[in-house]
Amino acid sequence: MGRLPSDGVGWYQKKLEIPASDAGRSIFLEIDGAMSYAAVWLNGNLVGGWPYGYSSWRVDLTPYVKPGGANQLAIRLDNPPNSSRWYPGGGIYRNVWLTKTQPIHIGQWGTFLTTRGVSISSAMVDLEVTIENDSASDATVGVSTEIFALGTEGGRVAGIAPQEIPVASGSSAKAKGSVTLSNPRRWGPPPTQRPNRYGAVTTISQQGKIIDQYETRFGIRDLRFDPEKGILVNGDRIPIRGVNQHHDLGSLGAAFNLRAAQRQLEMLREMGCNAIRMSHNPPAPELLELTDEMGFLVIDESFDCWERKKTPLDFHLIYPDWHEQDMRALIRRDRNHPSVILWSIGNEVGEQYTGEAGAAVAKRLHEIAHEEDPTRLTTTAMNWAKPEMPLSAVVDVIGLNYQGEGIRQDPLFEGTDRIRTPAQYPAFRKAFPGKVILGSETASAFSSRGVYLFPVTEKSSDVVRDGRGGDEASGQVSAYELHAVDFGSSADKVFASLDRHSCVAGEFVWTGWDHLGEPTPYYASRSSYCGIIDLAGFRKDRFYLYQSRWRPELPIAHILPHWTWPDRVGRITPVHVFTSGDEAELFLNGKSLGRKKKGEFEYRLRWDDVKYEPGELKVVAYKDGKPCVSNKVETAEAAAKLEAAADRSEILADGLDLSFVTVRVTDRNGLTCPRANNSIRFSIEGPGEIVATDNGDPTSFESFQSPARKAFNGLCLVIVRSIPGRSGTIRLKAESDSLQLVSLSVQASVANAQLK
Ligand code: GAL
Repeated sequence: MGRLPSDGVGWYQKKLEIPASDAGRSIFLEIDGAMSYAAVWLNGNLVGGWPYGYSSWRVDLTPYVKPGGANQLAIRLDNPPNSSRWYPGGGIYRNVWLTKTQPIHIGQWGTFLTTRGVSISSAMVDLEVTIENDSASDATVGVSTEIFALGTEGGRVAGIAPQEIPVASGSSAKAKGSVTLSNPRRWGPPPTQRPNRYGAVTTISQQGKIIDQYETRFGIRDLRFDPEKGILVNGDRIPIRGVNQHHDLGSLGAAFNLRAAQRQLEMLREMGCNAIRMSHNPPAPELLELTDEMGFLVIDESFDCWERKKTPLDFHLIYPDWHEQDMRALIRRDRNHPSVILWSIGNEVGEQYTGEAGAAVAKRLHEIAHEEDPTRLTTTAMNWAKPEMPLSAVVDVIGLNYQGEGIRQDPLFEGTDRIRTPAQYPAFRKAFPGKVILGSETASAFSSRGVYLFPVTEKSSDVVRDGRGGDEASGQVSAYELHAVDFGSSADKVFASLDRHSCVAGEFVWTGWDHLGEPTPYYASRSSYCGIIDLAGFRKDRFYLYQSRWRPELPIAHILPHWTWPDRVGRITPVHVFTSGDEAELFLNGKSLGRKKKGEFEYRLRWDDVKYEPGELKVVAYKDGKPCVSNKVETAEAAAKLEAAADRSEILADGLDLSFVTVRVTDRNGLTCPRANNSIRFSIEGPGEIVATDNGDPTSFESFQSPARKAFNGLCLVIVRSIPGRSGTIRLKAESDSLQLVSLSVQASVANAQLK
């Protein structure tokens, strides 16, 4: 549950100037996401609405528009309390469009582009175009499509033969056409493939005059699901190194911002992540543009619940009336994205427990998905359903949440009534030899960045209890990265499970980034603990554990914990190393503490009996017996100054672009003081504004809009946004009592379109 409030009623009002020249045109209001139960009025007339806050939808304003003046638009939203397990946000939080067309036009999401026979030398492109005729007379229109290779100088590469299509008044018609492309530049995930894209520009004309034009971006890829090999893109097995992501953007809230989303994906990519599960609802459409462009594989998910509720006022209330519209809207909107590889019809639904009745609900959604898109498979994320249960058999791809690794197998849970399950991968493999299996949610491991709690468990995966990885008083979980939710597993345990079951296509870690709300295990907090990256975008230690597995070619040796423990001199302070090497030697102040090698199913190196003494801790890692990388951590002196670094020092002056500035509290030598929590005040001059600050501390209730914030374990984030149309130098200053201040400049520029 989200601790930050989001419920209530909200009204939006806007005067739309509709010129007289719009008389006779069709005018639509398109909303990419409004939370929730939206109702739209124009000039006092109720036009329509849409309840599910994550869906994209449109209403037809045409009958109510008065061209030649101001038209009063009003939108009412009602966000009920207890309607979500996480922070849903509130209000209109995604883009809104006013679309004007001729009465004969391409329908909403009116193109469906599929590819077949994809090889290195050729690909067949099939395009279906839906044309709507809102005019009073029957018509015949011309439909033609030109195909362009995006991001190349080459321009047009092919065209679909023009056709004449009759469309009766008040109805719609479909035009179908195909073309073969030779030597297609295929779409696939980096680093082994490239996310090449194409654009299809469809033109509708009537009596030689162009009346509508529509661009469909797409990718050409051969996607196969092989029960033994997993997921193959263009013939290559792509092990799924995925994460789950919620829709919020941390301190920026649920309001979508392209740059903030891009930054999330960039950091995930740096870690070696190649797949995202959009948990548990339709994402912002622009996010799928980004996943297409960057080459992530996506599970696009519709619902967190069906008829059986998870919270008192959630989607179950309207499921019977709305599931079909929402499922169809998701697929029609997203079906042309090459990044989307699977439709997920739901997450851990209550219907897992209702036998045939639950399976029937699943079957309907599965059928809708296939009706809408015969080219993609379905999945659902199951944390309880077993292979012999009816729901498991409904979907095409088996998605297991935590069950694959086994749930609550610790003797601690013997005799409890909670879900307990031995590792389920073998049983599902046996029951469904023809289906791909993947870990739709794995881990749910917890940690607070930079917090290390002692003693350190000897296990490779453990629960969180007070004094056992957790500290209830401070609301923090240890960053030794060994603790998980009761039903979850550490990253190490998941890796071992995947290595033991090579037929599993891969995993989607719960989660990539911390999210707002759902702060298990400490419910008084504001945000979750399960991210590999914290809410502010600072890497937790786990980042390097995943990176060393997902990017084995990268020389990585990451040491934890930090080495500034004035209160631990002479005390046991375990040292763990995450490395892409297979062995490593650790040195404390030049003295070897021994060389260790990873055993089978071991993913970290641990020196658990190190006695702390200040100074330098150094690691030298080896791969195949040869040194490959070394790294060190050093004891910091007292906090003396602030240092600042912007992720980008030039941004667009469009009022949307952001610079994320990390401020560190350091000693006089520039070493981060890893436990510093100094209060920092930010001020800004020039054409920019501070939109949010954060520090990644799940327990912090300082306002995200506050220009003052405490550092959390040495770090603080300030987000600077440009002002539309104002270029120039933005000067940001960070100050803190008794520390040397720092200032930094960011250039905002109107002209430089290259920046994005
Ligand atoms: C899963 C659920 C997620 C999230 C996670 C927390 O069971 O699907 O949405 O709640 O647990 O650990």
